[in-house]
Amino acid sequence: MLKILLSIIFLVPHISFADTSIGESLFNRNCATCHKRTAPNIIGTKLKPATFLMIVKNGRAGTMMGSFKSKFSDDEILNIYNFLSTN
Ligand code: HEC
Repeated sequence: MLKILLSIIFLVPHISFADTSIGESLFNRNCATCHKRTAPNIIGTKLKPATFLMIVKNGRAGTMMGSFKSKFSDDEILNIYNFLSTN
């Protein structure tokens, strides 16, 4: 029991909102192909989190920027945002 409690205490900070390593690997695997070449550089983005979330969920009609609504949860998109906005 104590072991379980301890692992919860130690694990929770690692999956918290502020973790950028999850966002970094999601970005590198899913976005970097375009966003390090043809698409705008979004590393260091100044977009607000809500705006970013909307764009990534819905994409931009008529551009190469697709919708990721069915691929990622809001939390995953915000993890990507956290990585981008702090780098
Ligand atoms: C197939 C190429 C492609 C992929 C993959 C892609 N994007 Fe995009 N993205 C674009 C293009 C092109 C635009 C510019 C659209 C426009 O002209 O408004 C864009 C625009 C954006 C914008 C708006 C930038 C701004 O300042 O207006 C955000 C935010 C964004 N993408 C995030 C992401 C994220 C996060 C991922 C990965 C989950 C991703 N994109 C994957 C091509 C891509």
